[in-house]
Amino acid sequence: MAYECILLDIEEPFATITINRPKALNALSTTVLRELREALEKCEKDEKVKVVILTGAGEKAFVAGADIAEMSSLGPLDAKSFSEYGNSVFRYIEKMSKPVIAAINGYALGGGCELLMACDIVIASERAKIGQPEVKLGIPPGFGGTQRMSRLIGKMKAKELIFTGEMIDAQEAYRIGLVNRVVPAEKLIEEAKNIAKLIASRGQIAVRMAKQLINEGINIDLDSGLTLEAKGFALCFSTGDQKEGMKAFLEKREAKFTGK
Ligand code: CAA
Repeated sequence: MAYECILLDIEEPFATITINRPKALNALSTTVLRELREALEKCEKDEKVKVVILTGAGEKAFVAGADIAEMSSLGPLDAKSFSEYGNSVFRYIEKMSKPVIAAINGYALGGGCELLMACDIVIASERAKIGQPEVKLGIPPGFGGTQRMSRLIGKMKAKELIFTGEMIDAQEAYRIGLVNRVVPAEKLIEEAKNIAKLIASRGQIAVRMAKQLINEGINIDLDSGLTLEAKGFALCFSTGDQKEGMKAFLEKREAKFTGK
């Protein structure tokens, strides 16, 4: 499928989706959001893809936010639909079974910061600048920023970033737990691919079960979460991967997982 604003590269065992509107700093227009959703769905269905890497084209930006030119003339009902559409795409990332690694190659602002927060693992180039500058435009974040950021880094820090609209650099984002790792710009994709390969070498049923348990567990009480975990744990004992993983350990060899 040919995309206008997205590049999709499948290189088994992972796929790389690049948001490709560098002239607009990869801003999220409706077309970008739609194509991103389509590309994610393709990756979810493709058995060759175990992990998805998400990045931005060019050296300047991962995503500099939702498309301000497109948003500027929206009325309230269209703005609500735009927000709900963005939310549905980002929620798909959390609900899809395969892990998504964000490789932040530059500005991740507004919708770009909200996008990284929906991903499973975030690697940032030391050049990355991250923030929620929406209040400078007279709006609050609209693709999940007010909800995910406080869950991720705590209410106080989220309020500081969202109320001031100030950007932080990659090291500060690492310090407050908004990114997993900071690497030199030229090593960013290599690092993301290395993590993707490592995850792809593990038991995929277990990885996917863990993603689901963490993402579902974060929004429910601990007792319900532990009940959910016990069920997910038990279900994995019906798989060949569990038999192979434990047998391989006892035989002191590397496991050969089949994802079955
Ligand atoms: N939407 C549309 N176009 C954008 C954009 C955005 N979010 N961000 C950058 N661009 C465009 C600029 O308009 C410019 O286009 P032209 O060359 O046609 O003029 C081009 O990208 C390059 O940008 P700049 O000239 O501004 O580059 P710079 O290096 O001077 O500044 C920047 C870089 C600090 C990231 C600056 O572009 C900027 O502040 N961008 C907007 C960031 C922002 O406010 N993001 C939040 C958007 S709202 C949102 O995301 C709501 C939500 O939660 C759903």
